[in-house]
Amino acid sequence: MKNPFKFGTVVDDPFFINRKNEIEKVASIVSGENHLVLISPRRMGKSSLINKAVSSLGRPVIALDMQLMTSPADLAAQMLRRIYRIFPQARLKQHMKRFRIIPQLSLNPVTGSIDVSFLPGASSLPILEDVLNLAEKLSTEKKKLIIVFDEFQEVRRLDENLLNQLRAIMQHHKMINYLFLGSQESLIREIFQRKKSPFYHFAMVMHLKKIDTGEFSEYLKTGFTGIHAEPGIIAGEILGVTRGHPYYTQQLAFTAWEMAVSGRGQSKNAVDDAVNELVMMHEMDYERIWLSFNSTDRKVLLGLSISEQQPLTTDFMRMWNLNASSTVFSSLKRLMTGGYVIRTDKYELDDPFFSRWIKERREK
Ligand SMILES: Nc1ncnc2c1ncn2[C@@H]1O[C@H](COP(=O)(O)OP(=O)(O)OP(=O)(O)O)[C@@H](O)[C@H]1O
Ligand SMILES: [Mg+2]
Repeated sequence: MKNPFKFGTVVDDPFFINRKNEIEKVASIVSGENHLVLISPRRMGKSSLINKAVSSLGRPVIALDMQLMTSPADLAAQMLRRIYRIFPQARLKQHMKRFRIIPQLSLNPVTGSIDVSFLPGASSLPILEDVLNLAEKLSTEKKKLIIVFDEFQEVRRLDENLLNQLRAIMQHHKMINYLFLGSQESLIREIFQRKKSPFYHFAMVMHLKKIDTGEFSEYLKTGFTGIHAEPGIIAGEILGVTRGHPYYTQQLAFTAWEMAVSGRGQSKNAVDDAVNELVMMHEMDYERIWLSFNSTDRKVLLGLSISEQQPLTTDFMRMWNLNASSTVFSSLKRLMTGGYVIRTDKYELDDPFFSRWIKERREK
């Protein structure tokens, strides 16, 4: 018997559920000449959604994780490497002859794939221009290329001019749809929604939210059928803890399932036991993270974990002895940038197990 739940990596069938409207929206945006920016906190399912939506279109896709790129030239090299995988080589050589800076290609004997690099120190603009324009030339009306930049907000780390350069090149492209994914909301918003930014209004913005609990519930029930006596109750309790957050729901379900199968989680408290297991597993991380927060951050996190009140209300501020709402606001901003707090219809802790840990420590 295999665990029917999965967390951590990009998921596809049978682990991928719902998101029907979102898939449709992505498909409709990239079927025209538009570009898309998809924003959500960490692990909300961006990569899985894009993977699902674009793989059903039968179009060539190049995906680049900006976190793993070391420089603009490296970005160009990685892009060229992927172009090489997708398009027939004879045509490629013709085009590459005209590159202003000739890339070095070598066969990697271990993986059997082609490695691409540019000489260090080579100026990045002509390289990027040549590579991206090559992609534009190779793309065809019938099978238009899609290029996905994951964690796009990292672009700034690579080079402060890179945004300008990319925009200058991409704006002329008609045969490529660009998809930008970002998990640091404030940074990605600055790139696409600040008037002075070169990418201002370059792409359509889409926010990814949690998964509808009704859909999730069916999936959870099916997974626990034959494993636990009360699949419906288990499903409800799991969603009560995670509120439909894709990653944490899958993680908790995975853990509860393992415990049920091993005979440790058949009791009425199966979900609670699984939560405790997860809290214990992460205890050291939580402690280290907690110690890194200043006292306002701690108050905000405590308040969010043990009360239903929202941080910027007078009740909340009185309860935690916070004087200025500006202080609370900057704390929230900091906590959101760090990914600890997310904003859905309200402010809440991203990680429900961290929230439980805080609450338990407080009550001890
Ligand atoms: N549609 C879905 N149905 C069920 N589970 C999902 C779905 N989408 C995501 N998940 C769960 O969430 C986890 C994280 O998904 P994914 O890696 O796609 O998110 P992400 O937003 O790209 O994360 P990151 O911020 O780390 O890049 C998956 O491993 C899976 O457990
Ligand atoms: Mg991702």
